[in-house]
Amino acid sequence: MPIHTLDNNYWVLETDHTAYALGVNTAGALVHAYWGERLPAPTDYPAAPDAIFHASFTGAGHMWPEEYAGLTGLKYVEPALSVSFADGVRDLVLQVVGGAVAGDTLVVTLRDAHYPLRVELHYRAYAAHDLIERWAVVHNDGAPITLERVFSAQWQMPIGRSYRLSYLSGRWIDEFQLHRQPLSPGVFVRESRRITSSHHASPWFALDDHASETHGEVWFGALAWSGNWKLAAEVTDFGRTRVSLGLNDWDFAWRLGAGERFTTPACLGGYTRDGFGAASRRLHAYVRDNVLPHGRRPHKVLYNSWEATTFSVDVESQSKLAELAAEMGAELFVMDDGWFQGRTSDDAGLGDWWPDPKKFPDGLTPLISRVNALGMDFGLWLEPEMVNPNSDLYRAHPDWVIHFATRARTESRNQLILNLARVDVQDYLITAIDALLSDHNITFIKWDMNRNVSEPGWPGAGDRQREIWVRYVEGLYRVWGTLRERHPNVVWQSCSGGGGRADLGILRLADQVWVSDNTDALSRLQIQHGYSQMLPADTMEAWVTDINAGRISLDFRFHVAMQGVLGVGGNLLHWSPAERAKAARFVAQYKEIRPIVQHGEVYRLIGPNDGSPYVVTQYVGEDRREAVIFAFRRIGGGADAMLDGYHAIDPSQPAAIQLQGLDPAARYKITGQGAVRSGLAWMRAGLTIALGHQESKILRVRQVA
Ligand code: GLA
Repeated sequence: MPIHTLDNNYWVLETDHTAYALGVNTAGALVHAYWGERLPAPTDYPAAPDAIFHASFTGAGHMWPEEYAGLTGLKYVEPALSVSFADGVRDLVLQVVGGAVAGDTLVVTLRDAHYPLRVELHYRAYAAHDLIERWAVVHNDGAPITLERVFSAQWQMPIGRSYRLSYLSGRWIDEFQLHRQPLSPGVFVRESRRITSSHHASPWFALDDHASETHGEVWFGALAWSGNWKLAAEVTDFGRTRVSLGLNDWDFAWRLGAGERFTTPACLGGYTRDGFGAASRRLHAYVRDNVLPHGRRPHKVLYNSWEATTFSVDVESQSKLAELAAEMGAELFVMDDGWFQGRTSDDAGLGDWWPDPKKFPDGLTPLISRVNALGMDFGLWLEPEMVNPNSDLYRAHPDWVIHFATRARTESRNQLILNLARVDVQDYLITAIDALLSDHNITFIKWDMNRNVSEPGWPGAGDRQREIWVRYVEGLYRVWGTLRERHPNVVWQSCSGGGGRADLGILRLADQVWVSDNTDALSRLQIQHGYSQMLPADTMEAWVTDINAGRISLDFRFHVAMQGVLGVGGNLLHWSPAERAKAARFVAQYKEIRPIVQHGEVYRLIGPNDGSPYVVTQYVGEDRREAVIFAFRRIGGGADAMLDGYHAIDPSQPAAIQLQGLDPAARYKITGQGAVRSGLAWMRAGLTIALGHQESKILRVRQVA
């Protein structure tokens, strides 16, 4: 039984190695008691904390580590929930009704002291993954109220320690940059106001006080939501640290009528004593087992024609590329932008999702048949949420876009956003894309979204205008979810100009993410490092392209991309026969190691920010019999640059690299290392990998009998 109830007012959720405890304190508040290593007995956990009186300026409620704070009283911390009642009262007094356990889920119900408002806090324990999933359901049984903030969870840290927050931030072509920053008194906010989860910040966090990649306590979490979100990391003046995470309350308001309820997105949280690496691996396993629609199904090596042909697509240009892609060993050929009605550049066509008769007079079938005859699956690019004013769809339905009636509609990349909060818009998209998928043998869709919101109006929605932030995303989930149900074998990729929508919400629909439009291999090392903090390699689509091909070798570019789901996006027509032959060898090698990379466990042995010119990552297969090491050396500065060609005496040679995750007693052989040694030896004595400037290597690690 993973959940224990003590005295009807204290609960312990246990996972294989961790525990999370909460209870009712003497003042009747639901407070957090413990989050850490699992202890031997349910009675080992500390009592629900009370508060000592401080001064007339601050109430006890300010001091409590509340599980889900309402906005009320002498309490000035970040609330989880704030509402405005029908009579204008904006004070929320939540009292505990009780808790109920069903299987792996605990539900604690709170009720307002006066109004018929109930809040159910849901906690689900994922025992094997050592994770807790939390969400809240707000029920209104009285006159209509307005929800002004409704977070998914507040995560309380052990009191009195100084924490560091790890988070991901970035921008287009520079996503998933990892930052670690000490928290000090006040509130540090990361958020999205862009209607997608965004390139700029990711709904993920990790907190530690002195952890490393391999050691130390880390508390971490992620929100399953693909729209506006907010993370508030708060340190109080009384030594409490908490992270609140949920829907962004910026410009948000939700009318909750009598008898209605509101369910927040789920927020996941976990604890480990084994550093940031273990935290990532827990999330990865959870995503593979519980989030991804196709679970651990292997992903195919794709070729995408975008960088080769951009908008100039037709049967001939694509067939030529498809032949070369097939020779190289690609298993999936994806035609990107440019194929649909009126699409000759980025200023027309979005919304009209049928093949352009000028480019494809006989439709897409001749090309798809050609691709299939070459032994490859066929995939297609779509940008369903968007419309160009220069399109039949917009001419027919100018009111379908997000806009304010009296304001200019700001275009970006010449496009506007369809208002997916509207059911008629959702239905149009379902019908159009369903027809495309029903009429063609298409097994892969790259779902793009190339701008962020402006003028977030929804004329016709009356006093529900500000619900657009949530209803848009729910509409998107409905469209995508319906298409998934109707076409269960299609593999979907989430792209938003690269990694603008990568989160645990979209991965219930998408099987993978186009991580960045930046395909420079050196930049990718950094981007992939950040991405791997949160999401697993089998969701990380990575292409080899021609970007900076003059200064980064094909080997290096392949090695970088082989750390995720390998794709090729370079212009094969410009590759020499020797390059194409080499590419074919890499694709064949990737297919051999694919199960280890896509479904193994990742160990970041040397990260790009560790002060070394080396970046080394290890993937260990599920049964630990095999591993793959990817080692890169970037160009260093100073002495490093002077020593070009003399790396044998280069002072920045890596220290012995200690492998991880092997079976300590088993014996392993490693490419290029003569000796057969125990797993423990490779993990403690390690090995050195000598590389010249901007060289890279793949080393296979295999158990020997
Ligand atoms: C976005 C994507 C690219 C490509 C173009 C097509 O920028 O991220 O990969 O699909 O759109 O217009």
